[in-house]
Amino acid sequence: MNNIDRSSTKERTVISEYSKLAPEYDKRWSFYTTATLRETLKRLEIKPTDRLLDIGCGTGSLLKAISTHYPLVRMVGVDLSIEMLKVAGNKQIKRCSLVAGQVQRLPFHSKSFDIIVSCNAFHYWRRPEECLSEIARVLKPQGKIVITDWCDDYIACKICDLFLRMFNRAHFKTYGQDTCERLLQNTGYGNIQVDRYKINWLWGLMTANASLA
Ligand SMILES: C[S@@+](CC[C@H](N)C(=O)[O-])C[C@H]1O[C@@H](n2cnc3c(N)ncnc32)[C@H](O)[C@@H]1O
Repeated sequence: MNNIDRSSTKERTVISEYSKLAPEYDKRWSFYTTATLRETLKRLEIKPTDRLLDIGCGTGSLLKAISTHYPLVRMVGVDLSIEMLKVAGNKQIKRCSLVAGQVQRLPFHSKSFDIIVSCNAFHYWRRPEECLSEIARVLKPQGKIVITDWCDDYIACKICDLFLRMFNRAHFKTYGQDTCERLLQNTGYGNIQVDRYKINWLWGLMTANASLA
């Protein structure tokens, strides 16, 4: 039995949503993914020898961009949705393996990665503190975590979050800058910095950077 077979009903709704979205995802969300990718890359410090994990890597756009900027970095992308991973696989990203799995039970040995990144996936994670602790398990000592996601300090995101909580069973919850900082503190991370910013007149994101002490 693999990691995905044991997913909860909620995770199965995510899998089902992204199975349908996968073929169209890159085209349909290009404005949004281009902006999040640009803002995340700006805040990501990578060394050529690093081993990097992207959680909720989806169609692999961030992994592809990282492989262009840092050709020696070894990467792994993990995602619940096999359909999204298939699209990522077609991009033939160098030095990158793709694995089906979930953030709650990462299919990796402890202390495996120097950097763990996640874009636009944090709002799906039920029990975020357990997920952040699981990420800490697979990070090497002094390893870094970089998370970019919607920021509900912005009114448009807050309204969208409330709407999706009522009508979209895959969605879980978005957070503001302070809550994000507190979640990281509570799960043993240090050197926490959470930047929030707008990507157009309406929509706001945040990128959290932290490391294991
Ligand atoms: C909005 S997409 C983002 C994809 C990509 N990171 C990007 O920025 O384009 C969210 C992704 O997170 C994945 N995901 C959601 N919950 C997850 C979980 N618990 N474990 C692993 N992946 C998850 C979904 O399958 C989906 O591919």
